[in-house]
Amino acid sequence: MKSKDSIILAIESSCDDTGAAVLKNRKILSNIVAGQAVHEAYGGVVPELASRAHQKNIIPVVDQAIKQAGIQLSDIDAIAFTSGPGLMGSLLVGTSFAKSFAYSLGVPLIDVHHMHAHVLAHFIEQDDMLSPPFPFLCLTVSGGHTQIVLVEEGYKLSIIGETIDDAAGEAFDKTAKLLNLPYPGGPLIDKYAQMGNPDAFSFNKPSIPDYNFSFSGLKTSILYFLQNKMKEDPEFVSKHLYDICASVQKTILDILFKKLEKASKDLKIKHIAIAGGVSANRGLRQRLKDNELKKKWTTYIPPFGYTTDNAAMIAIAGAIKLESGQLADLHTTASARLNF
Ligand code: KG4
Ligand code: ZN
Repeated sequence: MKSKDSIILAIESSCDDTGAAVLKNRKILSNIVAGQAVHEAYGGVVPELASRAHQKNIIPVVDQAIKQAGIQLSDIDAIAFTSGPGLMGSLLVGTSFAKSFAYSLGVPLIDVHHMHAHVLAHFIEQDDMLSPPFPFLCLTVSGGHTQIVLVEEGYKLSIIGETIDDAAGEAFDKTAKLLNLPYPGGPLIDKYAQMGNPDAFSFNKPSIPDYNFSFSGLKTSILYFLQNKMKEDPEFVSKHLYDICASVQKTILDILFKKLEKASKDLKIKHIAIAGGVSANRGLRQRLKDNELKKKWTTYIPPFGYTTDNAAMIAIAGAIKLESGQLADLHTTASARLNF
């Protein structure tokens, strides 16, 4: 290491956002994300278009992150990158770039598991952020994953519950598609739900054991509900959009909170963190706060930019791995289905 300070450049390219961030010790100096509007017309991420957009974005995004951090290339002590899970073509762009850059700078390389990083984002040091004490539970809810992660002393992470089919974000996005709302549907359902009655309609909830989740039945239940209602009144969706959104959101949150509350009670863990794009949901944040008021929990909610896909979380996860000497080498490859 060249100095007492450790500076890490991190790269994230697992799905449809190209991210680069610079971390100094545990503080973020820059965190740049380039989204990809190209997928909007398709109602979901198109893998081939995503990898092409990453190729176009990666150099400008990294360049901007370095400039905004006010560092020189010679200040970089290590490069962290997302090695999986995610879309293979997208991961390969970030992985190849990180390997070449680390090789040319002669600095260590750190491979990071994308889902570990979502959780470890809570350890970024920032004035408006409080890191949870060990042990804590993290509900990670994104477009591709739904997990309850137990985090023990020493950053030991284990999944204690996860979805057996669709992710919570997919439940929002697929509902939005049924309602003819643009992709990604989560933010719009959240917005409309604020103006609707969450008890207007009810949908089937799964009954599966342990701390696992299921969302595929909900999608089918909503589909049949809409088909029946539209037969009676073709204007049903436009007339009741806010109430449908509020009721669907409530059902998704009921499914999530049933298991999260059970895990918290069974394991006697009252420190609850959230991560992933769906954690932006206002209904979800409100419920976490309500539980806090009832003195059940202390909740840890990072700033929005660290909950959706970003490279700051890859940087902090890389720093934690670097501290324990877990480095990658140039033979490291990307893996679409990386084990947790
Ligand atoms: O973590 P993320 O940015 O990307 C990955 O999937 O890894 O999560 C994206 C997901 C999408 O499904 C999107 O609809 C959902 O997060 N989302 C929301 C909200 N904002 C984003 N879902 C519900 N309410 C929101 N406010
Ligand atoms: Zn993610």
